[in-house]
Amino acid sequence: MEVGKPSRTAFATASARAYHQIAPEPRVFTDPLAVPITGVTAEELAEKAIAATASEPSEEIAFYRVRRLFMASRSRFAEETIADAVADGARQVVILGAGLDTFAYRNPDPTLRVFEVDHPATQAWKRQLLDKAAITVPDSLTFAPIDFESETLATGLASAGFVRDQPAVFIWLGVVMYLTREAIQSTLRYMAEQATPVRLAFDYVPPASDAAPEYRAHLRARADRLAALGEPLISAFTPTELAAELRAAGFDSVEDCSAADLVARYVGQAELGPAPERMHARVARALRT
Ligand SMILES: C[S@@+](CC[C@H](N)C(=O)[O-])C[C@H]1O[C@@H](n2cnc3c(N)ncnc32)[C@H](O)[C@@H]1O
Repeated sequence: MEVGKPSRTAFATASARAYHQIAPEPRVFTDPLAVPITGVTAEELAEKAIAATASEPSEEIAFYRVRRLFMASRSRFAEETIADAVADGARQVVILGAGLDTFAYRNPDPTLRVFEVDHPATQAWKRQLLDKAAITVPDSLTFAPIDFESETLATGLASAGFVRDQPAVFIWLGVVMYLTREAIQSTLRYMAEQATPVRLAFDYVPPASDAAPEYRAHLRARADRLAALGEPLISAFTPTELAAELRAAGFDSVEDCSAADLVARYVGQAELGPAPERMHARVARALRT
């Protein structure tokens, strides 16, 4: 991330969730705060989305649609993981690299504590957007500004009042790929050492060399664009490597699937459109019982 500036990719993923609320596509994830948190109206959002794709060929528009469905699907996957954890007795939710995630503001249970961890610059920007949209910050939410690369979760969450000897669920969407392997490994170990049962839901990017040859140029262009935004893709894992990291950290069960399979789970294979594997992303869920 650029020093002192909020994450640009956080705005991009939030805009995808927002546009998903109004786009003519199957609704995977319903979030009434997704549009207001971005600071634009639904009309402005629709106009921007149409203008941004006006000169794009139809296969690119089909790709943006499936990528947006993935953004919505991974949020649904995360909130299903939270529901499973709560059913198992967890009373603490930690959202790492929260960006403009709105779970905390829709959480109907005042006794379910939510901790939003994010880079201090992104979190400060989010708090301005919350104010602007008049979204109430509930007492059940605690902000924990932490830079994963230079501060430990242990220190940041302890000072936010997070309780280590009670079960918890961790959500980590759209972040792992921007961190070093060392930062990822230490964060996984911290999470797995939480009182059980502890759950984690996150997404990650496999190595570009594992993609079908016809998508590699597209993936390189995407990596270049992200680097130019100051958010280079740093870490990639094969599913096998990732499962090994999770087990080494202490998790005892791992579920993993491709972005395309996740979207198909919610909307059906027929809605995927052409070449959904071009997304080249995966989601995973890990559990320590
Ligand atoms: C692509 S956004 C994802 C935001 C949100 N989870 C979502 O799915 O919309 C990446 C997030 O990771 C956070 N992030 C990136 N590097 C970080 C770091 N070193 N420390 C803390 N947060 C970081 C950014 O601030 C941003 O909120």
